[in-house]
Amino acid sequence: MPLQIVIGAQWGDEGKGRIVDWFAAQADITARFNGGDNAGHTVTVSDRVFKLHLVPSGILHTGSVAVLGSGMVINPQRLLDEIEMLRQAGIAITPERLRISYAAHLITPAHLALDQALEAGRAGDSLGTTGRGIGPAYTDKAARQGLRMGDLLSPDFPERLAGTLEVANRTLKLWGAPVLDPAIVCAAYCAYAEQLKEYIADASAELEQALKTGKTVLAEGAQGTLLDIDQGTYPFVTSSACVAPAALTGLGLGLSAAQGARVTGVVKAFQTRVGSGPFPTEVSGKFADRLRGSGENPWDEYGTTTGRPRRVGWLDGVLLRYAVRVNGLTELAITKLDVLTGLKTIRVCTSYRAGNQPLVELPFGPAYLSQVEPVYEDFPGWQADVSKARRWKQLPSTAKDYLECLRSLAGLPIHLVSVGPEREQLIQL
Ligand code: IMP
Repeated sequence: MPLQIVIGAQWGDEGKGRIVDWFAAQADITARFNGGDNAGHTVTVSDRVFKLHLVPSGILHTGSVAVLGSGMVINPQRLLDEIEMLRQAGIAITPERLRISYAAHLITPAHLALDQALEAGRAGDSLGTTGRGIGPAYTDKAARQGLRMGDLLSPDFPERLAGTLEVANRTLKLWGAPVLDPAIVCAAYCAYAEQLKEYIADASAELEQALKTGKTVLAEGAQGTLLDIDQGTYPFVTSSACVAPAALTGLGLGLSAAQGARVTGVVKAFQTRVGSGPFPTEVSGKFADRLRGSGENPWDEYGTTTGRPRRVGWLDGVLLRYAVRVNGLTELAITKLDVLTGLKTIRVCTSYRAGNQPLVELPFGPAYLSQVEPVYEDFPGWQADVSKARRWKQLPSTAKDYLECLRSLAGLPIHLVSVGPEREQLIQL
């Protein structure tokens, strides 16, 4: 298999980290291709919980190379903190194991300040961003005024950075937000350049070479299909392309790399979202608290990056079918089945209603979601603990019926089912 892509099929937080971790055991390279430290991928290894925001989850496997691709936006301070955290945990981070595309864009303190000022300015209409500067960094990229990781190596980098900060300061003044001191920021970024320079590479060429020589590349999507800038619930989306085809552009790979690619869609057994935007199957009150968990465990439904409680609801089968289509998924990985244990009834949205009109598809994509009502199919729940199941046959028949429903809604095989946060709490089908 030349290329494998792992994608969030919902609004992010599907549990991609642990699924990538499982596949990464067999991959030579794991590569992130979109987003920045707005992502939070949690992997539990024995008694250690790793929360990775930038470095691909594959780094936790000795021998695997981690790549940060050109589609990413990188906050160098946060990257260095993450490298340090991994080193403290005994994980070797060397220029042989960590490669950063010269074409990935830099997040600066100006992007963070602008993200916060813009969100404050939107007041009641805020998008609920993670505040990590993601939108403003991609705005600068699209406006062709961003700085890239490769620019860190250039002798005129301090002047160019100072120039972008002066431009940002003019906007910050307009918003009444505090301005930045270019001298302080430039000194910090020159120090980051020194620490990161040996990791900066032509990741696109290296990945192409790896694929040519038969190596396995695992592309790790961040966020999820419904947060994609083009295919998601615009404007309540992130600023990057999160769908599977973006793995090619975000890593600098050509179309031929996609031939025969395996595309795994990670689907949580229920639906969650962080931030604003439509969510037809959302539930509230005590039942929402039950699905969300208390927040005591790292895998409860609280944002890995922001700590915000996630909005929760029943699985939306119409959006699942949409994710299959726009990503070209070839299989599913279902996560968090164990969270549904103990429920009397489990609901799945199989179609919508708009007024009196039944809908099995969205006429104008997810932007139309705020106008629909979910139509549910109810399944009996299961009471038996599924967290120790390691084979399909060990699951209660009602849990199998629920999974069969997801398989049939998606029209795809289920490859993995996770029944708990630990590495081994997985059923392979
Ligand atoms: P931004 O990516 O920080 O600009 O945030 C835009 C929207 O995407 C907000 O609703 C965020 O909550 C959401 N978002 C961004 N990254 C993630 C993620 O990794 N998981 C879930 N939601 C995310």
